[in-house]
Amino acid sequence: MERRAFLQSLAVLALASGCPLALAAESATAAFARRLRQAPWLLGFMGLAEDQQPLAMKVQGRFPAELRGTLYRNGPALMARGNERNEHWFDGDGMVQAFRLDGAKASHQGRFVRTPKFLKEQKAGRFLLPATGTYRQAEVPMGTNDDINTANINVIPFAGKLLALWEGGSATELDPDSLATLGQRTWAPGLEHMPFSAHPIRDKDGSLFNFGAAPFAGEPAVMLYHLAPDGRLRNSKLLALPFGGYMHDFAASDRYLVLLNSSCVYQGGRTYVEGFAWQGQRPSQLLLVDKHSLELVRTLEVPASFAFHFAGAEERGGELWVTLCRYRDASMMLSGMKELLATGQSQASQATLAQFRVNLASGKVDLWDSGLDMEFPGRDWRQAQHQGWVFGAGSSGQAQSLLSDALVAYDPLRQQVHRHVYGPGIVVEEPRFIAKAGAKAGQGYLLHSFLDYRRRQSGLAVLDLANLAGGPIAMAHMDRVLPLGFHGSFVAA
Ligand SMILES: [Fe+2]
Repeated sequence: MERRAFLQSLAVLALASGCPLALAAESATAAFARRLRQAPWLLGFMGLAEDQQPLAMKVQGRFPAELRGTLYRNGPALMARGNERNEHWFDGDGMVQAFRLDGAKASHQGRFVRTPKFLKEQKAGRFLLPATGTYRQAEVPMGTNDDINTANINVIPFAGKLLALWEGGSATELDPDSLATLGQRTWAPGLEHMPFSAHPIRDKDGSLFNFGAAPFAGEPAVMLYHLAPDGRLRNSKLLALPFGGYMHDFAASDRYLVLLNSSCVYQGGRTYVEGFAWQGQRPSQLLLVDKHSLELVRTLEVPASFAFHFAGAEERGGELWVTLCRYRDASMMLSGMKELLATGQSQASQATLAQFRVNLASGKVDLWDSGLDMEFPGRDWRQAQHQGWVFGAGSSGQAQSLLSDALVAYDPLRQQVHRHVYGPGIVVEEPRFIAKAGAKAGQGYLLHSFLDYRRRQSGLAVLDLANLAGGPIAMAHMDRVLPLGFHGSFVAA
């Protein structure tokens, strides 16, 4: 056997077994380049090494007047340092993207969040600190969880600033115009470095509810926050949990915050992700928290579930309906993302649009499952849940990978699915709803970013929610490949 072929076979073996021979056989960078030839959608995980200077995008059509403003997005962007690559999507340092839209014009700018971790590793030119899903020992002293904060999950406007959000530590404040990092934010003395999730919920009065899960603490617990619109802390409470299930997002009804204590339970391990194990025999819990007092008022058992994202909760006729993108197990987080990055494929379970329907008198819970593949859900929050469409990134069933290639919406009144399937090569990212001026609730546009891995371009598309099948009204693209990201916010000009 030729030396090259032998080395390649060793590398394949090493990847399959997870043994460090891969590094001996070929560099992580070369291995990724090889996988990219076989699985071109991995371009979305290649990552970036530098800030992205403002660049005009090519626009087809015209963005509606309501879209004059900025779509901010966040996601893991720095995936390699030196000859080492992150093995899990969650690990990359966050970069905030700003897409600025004005009619027939669109531009893009991207800037890494200057977290303490990013600055230290940037100076050293290599990884120095542990990551969420890739095993790496600390090479520098660590004080708190914020030492490994990557600020890479979401970006929201709040109290005059942008907040780049992680989930295991503090929010990071950014300047909305320059995207410059201003520093980590503590909401009140005594709350330094407390976990603050990437999915706060804005209440009708502009205040913000959030939680921060600490399943790794001696006693599993979740921190609850209620922040006034100006950023001052109204209330906070530490809630002890009977077990430390993974929590990433939550929901709110008029009276309650609703948390899912999932059956993916923290037991400890080499990395945060490896510390969790799926316990399919253990029912999950819905925790109902009073919004005013932040006290736990009820715990309900539900079928063993895993979820990243929720699409609201609503009380109606003695029932509480909680909408979520539900996984039947946690394989996506525990093994799927690593498999995807290592091989381009994964058989991990996909999320479907589902609802827990709780009878508040008896405590009986029904699980309704639409069977519709959906992630990154959203809705027009002005509408009642039983009436308003839920939309998200979905699948045509024809995609070459498990990445989303369609925009999907579900109409609960008519129980109909609406969909726009993009051609091969497109990966659809989280859609954001922008209301049509002067129109009824529920009428609006969906704005989403995408990766076209065949043309090596990233872009934006806007569709009318009422006519998804009609396809984009306007699109913008550029000869610049952005890493696939998680979440963002549209801020009107
Ligand atoms: Fe999320």
